[in-house]
Amino acid sequence: MASRTWHCWLLLVFFLLSDDASGQLSTSYYADSCPSVEKVVHATVASAIQAERRMGASLIRLFFHDCFVQGCDASILLDDVPATGFVGEKTAAPNNNSVRGYEVIDQIKANVEDVCPGVVSCADIVALAARDSTALLGGPSWAVPLGRCDSTTASRSEANSDLPGPGSNLTMLIARFGNKGLSPRDMTALSGSHTVGFSQCTNFRAHIYNDANIDPSFAALRRRACPAAAPNGDTNLAPLDVQTQNAFDNAYYGNLLVRRGLLHSDQVLFNGGSQDALVRQYAANPALFAADFAKAMVKMGNIGQPSDGEVRCDCRVVNDS
Ligand code: HEM
Ligand SMILES: *[C@@H]1O[C@H](CO)[C@@H](O)[C@H](O)[C@H]1NC(C)=O
Ligand SMILES: *[C@@H]1O[C@H](CO)[C@@H](O)[C@H](O)[C@H]1NC(C)=O
Repeated sequence: MASRTWHCWLLLVFFLLSDDASGQLSTSYYADSCPSVEKVVHATVASAIQAERRMGASLIRLFFHDCFVQGCDASILLDDVPATGFVGEKTAAPNNNSVRGYEVIDQIKANVEDVCPGVVSCADIVALAARDSTALLGGPSWAVPLGRCDSTTASRSEANSDLPGPGSNLTMLIARFGNKGLSPRDMTALSGSHTVGFSQCTNFRAHIYNDANIDPSFAALRRRACPAAAPNGDTNLAPLDVQTQNAFDNAYYGNLLVRRGLLHSDQVLFNGGSQDALVRQYAANPALFAADFAKAMVKMGNIGQPSDGEVRCDCRVVNDS
């Protein structure tokens, strides 16, 4: 497996020699070793979104849930292995029966392996797929710093403790993002990805039945497909953006201004607190939102790279040692 892991060790050596943590990743990382990687990822993401538009949203979220647990290391992709007792992150509360897109990542990996075997990490594929999904749904694009290693470990407990839940208050959201080196502004910009995709009733029931800071007609609309008594309708879906669910735009913030955020954790961004002014700015200025979102995605993509690791052959399993 040495040939599959050399680049990460080389990366480590460069890192130690250069003494420059911010220079770890590079947008030209695969320029020589796999010049067509971005084209292959983009084409595969495009066909997945054509088959099902929601998949774009699911791939954006997959990147977030990878990066918040052990850094952006594809730890979320590792399957549980009952035979060895290995427990991954897929059954953590925020992920179980909720995170989607694993098969699309497998497909991208297979297509990339066809052109450059053993070179491109699963973690980089997840980062590229999130960027391409954003752009294909109508949002901004950006150059993705690359050169991540895939982890040989995963942490269900960290997924449970570090990912914010939909009942979070603003203090909690700022703290959870702050723990990952992301500012309140980054948090508010990244939450704007709730301009696409869906939530299950179980995640917004309390908001539409118990909260006061919600437009009554919007609450009534959402209650129709989300019965008050759990577990009735728990898995019923509603779009996170009531206005333009298929477009990656800034309508999410406009919704918040009229108290039409779907999750409790959405509406707390505009509820008389520290993020109100920024929400107003993003609602009024789509270009500002697009620029801040792209910047924050790059920043999130820099969270805690492992100092060692590998390029997995199969994104779901650690390579043989
Ligand atoms: C601020 C804290 C956040 C909370 C509490 C939160 C919570 C949630 C919840 C509960 C869902 C619905 C899941 C389900 O019902 O299965 C969801 C969906 C989604 N989240 Fe977040 N999220 C947050 C931040 C983010 C960030 C930072 C991103 C990406 C940058 C993101 C992207 C998405 C997307 C795109 C979906 C739709 C996924 C799909 O339709 O498959 N979220 N989020
Ligand atoms: C994950 O969801 C399945 C149902 O699909 C359930 O049987 C299992 O107990 C859940 N796992 C955890 C760890 O909660
Ligand atoms: C926010 O939520 C946390 C955890 O639920 C709680 O301890 C804290 O008191 C809440 N803060 C505010 C300002 O409501």
